[in-house]
Amino acid sequence: MRALFLLLRLVVVAWAVVSALWLYSLTQRYKSSRACPYSWRWMLDNLPRRVVQPLRSTVDSFHIDRGKIVLELGPGPGYFSVEVARRVGPEGRLVCVDIQPEMIGALRRRLLREGVSNALPTVGDALALPLADCSVDCAFLVTVLGELPDRPKALAELRRVLKPGGILSIAETLPDPDYQFPDVVRDLCRASGFRLLEHHRCLLGFTMNFAADGGAPAP
Ligand SMILES: C[S@@+](CC[C@H](N)C(=O)[O-])C[C@H]1O[C@@H](n2cnc3c(N)ncnc32)[C@H](O)[C@@H]1O
Repeated sequence: MRALFLLLRLVVVAWAVVSALWLYSLTQRYKSSRACPYSWRWMLDNLPRRVVQPLRSTVDSFHIDRGKIVLELGPGPGYFSVEVARRVGPEGRLVCVDIQPEMIGALRRRLLREGVSNALPTVGDALALPLADCSVDCAFLVTVLGELPDRPKALAELRRVLKPGGILSIAETLPDPDYQFPDVVRDLCRASGFRLLEHHRCLLGFTMNFAADGGAPAP
């Protein structure tokens, strides 16, 4: 009985500590910029995340095929990058664009460790992507949209760099403090000229796939 009581106390204390850390991360985030601080990168790759947003099934929902040129916007330290780079294979390429040089540095080290040579980590801003028009087959972003200061501008940039008929995948999951609700993502993308293709649900989030052929963006 005493052991059970102790265990319960431990669970409550652990829960309180995690909540306090989460609230602290929220206050820190909005102090300087909206981007997830580098010092909080451990929140992006851990056991609970692997349960809530499993790597392989999430990447499955992006429909990434061999030989494709793929853009990952806001990869952070690369929870998805190695898996996606392996799926496109040596004939394909993964371009990872993140605004924080420290995140790109961590990603570069991870790719090196994993022996991935078909990925291109690049420091850049979603609002002015360092890519040519119609240069990528697919683009994906996971828990990034809510950090962008001008989401319509970023979506216009994504539309510019995607080839006609290219696929944009947007995934969101809780407890990301910048979580975007599905109807918000759908409406924003539609207004930017994307057509909704699929809506996959997972434990605490979703992936939406859009085609970049939805006609002219809404005025
Ligand atoms: C919450 S993290 C998500 C990282 C990764 N997608 C994942 O799911 O593990 C958001 C990432 O988006 C990046 N980011 C935020 N604003 C950005 C912008 N304007 N342009 C490019 N990357 C940005 C941040 O630096 C951070 O690495």
